[in-house]
Amino acid sequence: MTEIDQVDFFTDPSIVDDPYPYFESLRAQCPVVREPHHGVVAVTGYDAATAVYRDSEVFSSCVSATGPFPGLPFEPEGDDLGALIEQYRDHFPLHEHLVTMDMPQHAAHRSLLKRLLTPRRLAENEEFMWRLADRQIDEFIARGSCNLMSDYAQPFALLVIADLLGVPEEDHQVFRVTLGAQQAGSIDESEAFTSNPLEFLAERFTSYIEDRRREPRDDVLTAIATAKYPDGSTPEVVDLVHVACFLFAAGQDTTARLLTASFRFIAENPELQQLLRDEPERIPNFVEETLRMEGPVKSDFRLAKNPTTVGDMDVPAGTIVMILNSAVNRDPERFEDPDTFDIERQNAREHIAFGRGIHACPGGPLARVESRVSITRLLDRLKDIRISEAEHGPADSRTYEYEPTYILRGLKALHLDYTPATESSSAESVMTETH
Ligand code: HEM
Repeated sequence: MTEIDQVDFFTDPSIVDDPYPYFESLRAQCPVVREPHHGVVAVTGYDAATAVYRDSEVFSSCVSATGPFPGLPFEPEGDDLGALIEQYRDHFPLHEHLVTMDMPQHAAHRSLLKRLLTPRRLAENEEFMWRLADRQIDEFIARGSCNLMSDYAQPFALLVIADLLGVPEEDHQVFRVTLGAQQAGSIDESEAFTSNPLEFLAERFTSYIEDRRREPRDDVLTAIATAKYPDGSTPEVVDLVHVACFLFAAGQDTTARLLTASFRFIAENPELQQLLRDEPERIPNFVEETLRMEGPVKSDFRLAKNPTTVGDMDVPAGTIVMILNSAVNRDPERFEDPDTFDIERQNAREHIAFGRGIHACPGGPLARVESRVSITRLLDRLKDIRISEAEHGPADSRTYEYEPTYILRGLKALHLDYTPATESSSAESVMTETH
């Protein structure tokens, strides 16, 4: 065994804070390699990864959310596992959610999102974001320091999804408390009627949807409650509830991690910070480059239903393929000088941080707007943003802690110091905002 073979990607804490040298050692062997601990085929090459994503006939998403764990619920036999996967479908983790479904069930369930992601709904949601960004910043600005994750990113990402789904604003606070994005000490925690976030979401959305089916109104929840499948049939309430709940699961933590990754770059680099303040039209490409360099999803999984090839490797049916999005986004065959953060990179948007193919992230446009709005307002209202040396150490020896998971890549916390902008400069910029 080589040194790299001794690292178990799924359990080794030594590669959590900086997984990139490990990814490069895999790539140095081949863009497609079989990792020795769980028999998973790991893909670090751009072309092989996008080919897997696009071939939903051969690659099932039944294992997409957890990969080799807890193991397949059947012994793979023969050259076509399609029937076995369907027979055991409800044994796979998160089987009730879109991300693990295969065609044709996937298309039917994904169509339920259509009413939420219309240009009109997204425009209304953006209006809400501008207001919310200022409200969040108001909560902590006077302190001169914050933990961007808990003070801003988590509650912001949570409430944007709540608004997208049409959760009435008077219910936002209880969502914030129960789903763990509360402002410490500021609200009555007894409002949270259950401590299990998924149960809370399921109860709330079941009640919203049943209520709107009984008494339709002119609101977003009614649009969701009365959505139909493409064949004209009416979804069960529980299926709509799953769609709603999954948006929180898929869209909150990921976007919060993207925001903190962005501000790690911004706070570490004063020239970049000033450039983005002076030329906010550069923010969208900055966000793409952050997604490429520090995308919140490190890995994604598929199960080969039939014997096939991945890159040049023959793989039998029953093989779990692991797409290492964070490695693919630094493939030197696709991205020149891939480990350098380049705000002007022409093809930054070719990253696969949002996946590809039929499961490509439907929340991508939303996450991009959330980032643009947040970065614009935070840069506008907080001047001279710096990494907190008290929390992360001096510039030449910073310490950052990342969440210990093999799927997500994200800081646990990001402590910043800054100088609050004077009232007049922030009021001026609100007046001149072009949104
Ligand atoms: C930076 C933020 C985000 C990142 C990096 C991200 C990443 C991804 C990726 C890689 C997938 C594909 C999974 C697969 O193919 O197996 C995905 C799927 C999904 N994402 Fe996102 N996501 C983000 C934000 C959001 C937001 C804000 C929402 C919604 C509000 C959302 C909702 C979903 C849903 C519903 C799916 C499943 C789609 C399907 O299976 O057809 N995501 N996301």
